[in-house]
Amino acid sequence: MARRSFVAGNWKMNKTPSESRTLALDLRARLEKYTKCDIAIFPTYLSVAVVSEVLKGSNIDVGTQNMHWEKFGAYTGAVSPQMLVDAGVRDVIVGHSERRQYFGDNDEKVNKRIFAALAHNIKPIVCVGETKDQRLANVTEDIIRTQVLGALIGITAEQMAGITIAYEPVWAIGTGLTATPAQAQDVHAFIRGLVRSLYTNEVAEALRIQYGGSVKADNAASLLSQPDIDGALVGGASLVAADFEAIVKAAK
Ligand code: 13P
Repeated sequence: MARRSFVAGNWKMNKTPSESRTLALDLRARLEKYTKCDIAIFPTYLSVAVVSEVLKGSNIDVGTQNMHWEKFGAYTGAVSPQMLVDAGVRDVIVGHSERRQYFGDNDEKVNKRIFAALAHNIKPIVCVGETKDQRLANVTEDIIRTQVLGALIGITAEQMAGITIAYEPVWAIGTGLTATPAQAQDVHAFIRGLVRSLYTNEVAEALRIQYGGSVKADNAASLLSQPDIDGALVGGASLVAADFEAIVKAAK
C-alpha cells in the first residue's frame, strides 16, 4: 500500500511568538507547492495561536509538543485537548524522549494522552526510541516493543488510522549522529511487524512511521527512500525554513 509521506517539524523550546510568526510565514510561502506529502509543525504552546492564524487554509498543520489528557481542572502548567482544538491544533507529539527524560513521561501517560487526543480528533505522533546504552546492550527491540505495546494498550484497529509512530533513537537526537538508513529501516520494519501482530496486515501497512534524529537536508533522501520510513520528525533543521523545505522536497 502506498502511504503518504508525513514530514513534521518539532520546534522544541525555540522561537518567541514573533519569531514563530516570521518562520511560519516563510514556511507557508515555501511549502505551498509540496502537495504530495503531509506537513505539520509543532511550535511551543505560546506560539500556537499566532502560527495557526498564519497557516489557516494552508497545507501545513499545526500541532503541539505535548498535551494533558484531562479536559480542564487543577493541573497547574498544563494544557488540555479541547483548548488545543479551539486554538486550531490538529496534531500532537506524544512521548517524545525529552518529555520522558526531563518531565517524567512514561508509557502509561503516553497511552492516556493518545486516548485523549483521539477523543478530540487530534492526531498523535507517538515517539519511541532506545538510548545509546540500550543499543550497545543489544536491547533495542525489547525497548521498542515495550514502548509500542505500552502506548497502544486498548487502542482499536480503527483508532490506529489516526496514529503515527515516530522512531527517534535517543542517541541520534540533536547529536548530529544519524541512524544509518539500514539501521533505521530495521527498526521501522520491526515496529510495523509488531503492529501487524497486534492488529492486522492492513493496519500495519497503513501505519505511517517517521524517523527522527538529526534529519538534515543532506541525509533526508537516503532515509526517506527506505521502504518502511514514511516521513521524518525533524528538530533542529525545522527551525531553518530552507532546510525544512529541502527535507519536505526529499519526501516521497
Ligand atoms: P534533531 O533533528 O534536532 O536531532 O531532533 C529530532 C527530534 O527530537 C524531533 O522530535
